[in-house]
Amino acid sequence: MNLDITHSGQACGASVRGVDLAQLLDAETVAALRAAWLEHHVLAFPDQRLSDDDLERFTQAFGGFGEDPFIAPIPGRQHIIAVERRADETSSLFAETWHTDWSFQPRPPAGTVLYGKVIPSLGGDTLFANQHAALDAMPDGLRQRIEGRTALHSAKKAYAPDGMYGERDKKGRSMVIKPSKDAERVQRHPLIHRHPETGRAGLFGCFGYIIGIDDMDDAEAMPLLFELYQWQSRPEFQYRHRWQPDMLVMWDNRSVLHAATGGYAGHHRLLHRTTIAAV
Ligand code: SIN
Repeated sequence: MNLDITHSGQACGASVRGVDLAQLLDAETVAALRAAWLEHHVLAFPDQRLSDDDLERFTQAFGGFGEDPFIAPIPGRQHIIAVERRADETSSLFAETWHTDWSFQPRPPAGTVLYGKVIPSLGGDTLFANQHAALDAMPDGLRQRIEGRTALHSAKKAYAPDGMYGERDKKGRSMVIKPSKDAERVQRHPLIHRHPETGRAGLFGCFGYIIGIDDMDDAEAMPLLFELYQWQSRPEFQYRHRWQPDMLVMWDNRSVLHAATGGYAGHHRLLHRTTIAAV
């Protein structure tokens, strides 16, 4: 094994060469990749020619599949969804606001794996925001207001029947989204958490999937969550990931927020996505 890991030079993220993800990875390689992932939070593997079987095998090497609600898997697979936008599509961009995947679940996924199949020649970058860095640099006044607080997470604004991807949204969208009343469930997670593997403190989740704060009136909680969102996503905490075809990216949902970007109208974009279960 001769891994070549290069830091992005931004707030997180590294690219990894010297490994062929189409092959079965030995335990030593998986351990080295996991250590790099915990250090850099986002790993990009360029020039990987992968089948869906390869993508599934890679995901399982890092802890098995998470549960993906509200989006139908691609035909013939249970654990792969397509993040897709056709060249002529006019529906709103998928996942354009900052979030961490499925934070409304009781045990949100440790990570997400995204593999670029059709990548436009311009636009479509994915942004990541390092939530350890955001907490470390947070002004004392803001930190005191969130310390010890528990956030209320829910998928309702996105996936309830009247949500952003609800019944009104279905026409013309290539992704097969399945809105449900189940999205109205609420789950509690601390606003500041300790990463379950590194023990490092960071912010978990943000306004959007976070719909309120336990034991706080919305009149106080909403401006606080909005102020926090602005802080969490500041440019100095960000890494802008530029895609290439045949590139695989894995990110740590316990350490980073992410957001899709547009700028590729008139071009097709297709990526296959899996989630890595909580440890
Ligand atoms: C996602 O949030 O999984 C999608 C990110 C992207 O399309 O860039």
